[in-house]
Amino acid sequence: MPNKITELFNIKYPLIQAGMIWASGWKLASAVSNEGGLGIIGAGSMYPETLKLHIQKCKAATNKPFGVNVPMLYPEIDKLMEIIIGENVQTVFTSAGNPKVWTKHLQSHGIKVVHVVSSVKFALKSQEAGVDAVVAEGFEAGGHNGRDETTTFTLIPMVREQIQIPLIAAGGIATGRGMLAAMVLGADAVQVGSRFVASNEASSHINFKKKVVEAKEGDTQLTLKELAPVRLMKNKFYDDIQQLYESKPSKEDLIKLLGRARAKKGMFEGDLVEGELEIGQISGLIHEIKPAAEILREMIAEFEAAKKEVAFY
Ligand SMILES: Cc1cc2nc3c(=O)[nH]c(=O)nc-3n(C[C@H](O)[C@H](O)[C@H](O)COP(=O)(O)O)c2cc1C
Repeated sequence: MPNKITELFNIKYPLIQAGMIWASGWKLASAVSNEGGLGIIGAGSMYPETLKLHIQKCKAATNKPFGVNVPMLYPEIDKLMEIIIGENVQTVFTSAGNPKVWTKHLQSHGIKVVHVVSSVKFALKSQEAGVDAVVAEGFEAGGHNGRDETTTFTLIPMVREQIQIPLIAAGGIATGRGMLAAMVLGADAVQVGSRFVASNEASSHINFKKKVVEAKEGDTQLTLKELAPVRLMKNKFYDDIQQLYESKPSKEDLIKLLGRARAKKGMFEGDLVEGELEIGQISGLIHEIKPAAEILREMIAEFEAAKKEVAFY
């Protein structure tokens, strides 16, 4: 399936497993890379030394390309980047920040840089900053998200119209049909998050994985826009946020409620009541926890079958 993205990353399929805090460590990333996709280690929930260990384990588990996702809000970002460069990581996906800050520096060390955006405006800024590709993420996606609530279905063609560099679609894609749809809209590849949370290799807690496969339409909501908008599974913690909103809280009130380590508590430690559970709308279509390789193989097979089906239209 050669195209701009498979050539850029030297991978078999234009399918990228999203970098995800508390979910995508070396086990998931190497399983996806071994199967012909691009696996990504989510550095956002790791201490620098933990990231180093994950990169080294990933290298031992696969001889295929893989990448690291770095949310730019990370407090010790210099240390993370030093490790990434020192370990000769080939690709970095940056998110939640200004793409100008790290792109040139990473590229000067031979690293390919992809920036994640949720609007046309930031896709253009990323192109100007010289990134190798852009991930455009619609508001149905799990995790931190755009304020404008632009869906993948509208965002992808609008970004495609404006940028010339390779484009990766994210948000709401968990099947081969979804992948084909995104590519018909103008994407060169897809980035898949929520579907891989419910994989055997994801480091997320089994309670969270089970909750994901039980999820139905309407079970997630974008909230905490005043801090950093995030799509969460509804639970007691989510209800507490909603209740607080009724009293017109200040930003400080919201920060206080969020407290520390909520995401770890929910997604890594499995506290489904008090924890923060980041997941996308497409969780309503995820019904089984499976090996990552199987998820990828099924998506590619469905993509090929759907391509033939639509050829009849
Ligand atoms: C549990 C979880 C954690 C995430 N953590 C990150 C992260 O650390 N950095 C980032 O750029 N995006 C993060 N995301 C967003 C994903 O990288 C990806 O773009 C998104 O999941 C795609 O949408 P989907 O969930 O509908 O597949 C996360 C998503 C989930 C579900």
